[in-house]
Amino acid sequence: MQASPPLSRDTIQSTLSSKWLGRRIELFDSLPSTNREASRLAQADVEHGTVVVADSQTAGRGRLARTWFSPGGANLYCSVILRMKRPAEGLTEWLSWLPLVSALAAAEAIEAVSSLQVSVKWPNDLLISERKVGGILCESSSSAGAIPFQIIGIGLNVNVAQEDWPEELRESATSIWHEQQRTVDRNRLLAQLLLELEQCIDELAAHGTSRLSLAYHQRCSTIGQKIKATLANGDQCLGQAEGIDQDGALIVKPEKTQTGSKEPATLHLRVADIIHVRT
Ligand code: BTN
Repeated sequence: MQASPPLSRDTIQSTLSSKWLGRRIELFDSLPSTNREASRLAQADVEHGTVVVADSQTAGRGRLARTWFSPGGANLYCSVILRMKRPAEGLTEWLSWLPLVSALAAAEAIEAVSSLQVSVKWPNDLLISERKVGGILCESSSSAGAIPFQIIGIGLNVNVAQEDWPEELRESATSIWHEQQRTVDRNRLLAQLLLELEQCIDELAAHGTSRLSLAYHQRCSTIGQKIKATLANGDQCLGQAEGIDQDGALIVKPEKTQTGSKEPATLHLRVADIIHVRT
């Protein structure tokens, strides 16, 4: 673990130049999960744009029911609460693009405070040289009658050193510190992240996906790659990732099976675990 300034609400707020995101910041030494706390606060009607941050998590949640490695004093774990009314006809696009544009914002924030280049593995893994430096878990309320809300949970590996990773993550994960051998002040990174995220959310709300989709395509290293996809039901498929559709789904051309004579139909994947296959 590399020594870096502690998280401080005053420092974050004095650096923050966003308009509405992060006006209220709830900072904790430790939480089971910032997404869990954000959900609890959202159900208690906390205001739109509230941000929950923790120095460490004891039960950090990842996508696809995985856990998120969350040691203290090193990384960033935060959850943003959104309560924006969306018209019913644009709701699917809004919900499916939120995770993707959040990844764009996080990539831009890392690049703004470092000298690194960040790509996105569909849907929202943040990669540096094909190793994971961050991830995003979006969750939405579904209870009928209540005011709907969305939670954007973001975990970034900031100042954690390679030897601190659990064995099983050492090959696949990285941190900003590991890549540039220089610590990053998490307060500054969080302020930048909230600014970039606010700009992406405002753009999505005001103009839809046209400009964001272009920026996402440019940053997404999955497009054009040979991939292995594991679907929600456990089925696996090898194919070529061709693009992202209007609803944020990954368009995949499956490989021909040896026995199959017909061209396999193009898939539009909404939920899947993707591996970039080296060729
Ligand atoms: C992934 O699996 O890639 C998503 C990881 C998301 C982790 C973040 S850390 C802050 C927030 N709170 C959680 O429990 N999870 C998210």
